[in-house]
Amino acid sequence: MTKSISLFSSPKDVKVGVVGYGGAFNMGKKHLEEMQACGMVPVAVAELDASRLEVAKEDFPGIGTFATLDEMLAESDVNLITLITPHNTHAPLGLKALEAGRHVVCEKPLAITTAECDAMIAAAQKSGVMLSTYHNRHWDGLPLTALELIKKQKLIGDVYKIECRMGKYNKPGEWWRSSRTISGGILYDWGVHLLEYSLQIIDADVTEVSGYAHEGVWGPQNKWKDDTVEDEGCAVVRFKNGAWLSLTITSLDADPEPGMLEVTGTEGSITFINPHDGYRLVQWKDGKKVTTEGKQLPTEQERYYQNVTDFLTGKAELVITPEWSRRPIHILDLAVQSAKASKALPATYT
Ligand SMILES: NC(=O)c1ccc[n+]([C@@H]2O[C@H](COP(=O)([O-])OP(=O)(O)OC[C@H]3O[C@@H](n4cnc5c(N)ncnc54)[C@H](O)[C@@H]3O)[C@@H](O)[C@H]2O)c1
Repeated sequence: MTKSISLFSSPKDVKVGVVGYGGAFNMGKKHLEEMQACGMVPVAVAELDASRLEVAKEDFPGIGTFATLDEMLAESDVNLITLITPHNTHAPLGLKALEAGRHVVCEKPLAITTAECDAMIAAAQKSGVMLSTYHNRHWDGLPLTALELIKKQKLIGDVYKIECRMGKYNKPGEWWRSSRTISGGILYDWGVHLLEYSLQIIDADVTEVSGYAHEGVWGPQNKWKDDTVEDEGCAVVRFKNGAWLSLTITSLDADPEPGMLEVTGTEGSITFINPHDGYRLVQWKDGKKVTTEGKQLPTEQERYYQNVTDFLTGKAELVITPEWSRRPIHILDLAVQSAKASKALPATYT
């Protein structure tokens, strides 16, 4: 049963809390500051590591601090909870918060499996609350520029291929991102961003996914041993309109090519080296190759929480819906299963 979402009359009625205030990128501070900038009010932080709660208290004097989500739910008046914890905790923590009737923003990836995403979406519908994923990079310079050049200016003709690649020759780190169980695998960190960029560019249904993985070089040399992420993972996605997309994330590339994302169309290609800085457009005109180096449009990541605020106060539709954020997870889930089965698998969610 789907319950309708009750909205707030003002952003200041939205009392926000974060779960996870980790030190790797200080993401808790970033989230709370972005929410505060939109007029929402930070009231609580839950974090297993007591020393990080001390940091949160210094960053936000007077904020409520809790050791667990359970304590935060019981003892604070938080009504929007953002999860900034390792990937395998997103589904269990998210379900708990949603079942307690709180709106939830989950850091990417929404979850590790399609089934976990389905359960979270069903819980949000049952409780009548918002569920969204922090796809801040939806508004990076890279996709904003790609959409402008490809869809508005139509500079490369019809897009039929996107190649995404990242990596170098390096031993995985000793942090949780190198554990397959905790992270979901090598494709689940930057791969989610690259897929989310690409799904904005290719406007078509996904029909099937093939996955490939190389394993065993780094596993024994890593603290996670048999649970280390793959040395290299690859997903190849087929779309209904004939386009395809490949995503490769690797720790075994001895000679990496520059360019994290390359879009190829019938009249040219555009390569982006990184999410913010520039692009290279190559077109064939009158039998000649014309290369243009350009600047990307400015990144506007702050639009993520502005949209969430506008949605919760009835002023806008939600851009990053849970169904949208399930799309990259479904692709990754199928890629992992396909690599094990050595065959392409059909998509359930297109
Ligand atoms: N969108 C982005 O640009 C971006 C950037 C960095 C990280 N991330 C995402 O943010 C999430 C966290 O990554 P990070 O780099 O901040 O990791 P981190 O290791 O720095 O922080 C995670 C924190 O969560 C805490 N934690 C774990 N389980 C918990 C629980 N059950 N209750 C309370 N606290 C708990 C840990 O103690 C740790 O301090 C991941 O999903 C990651 O992919 C997104």
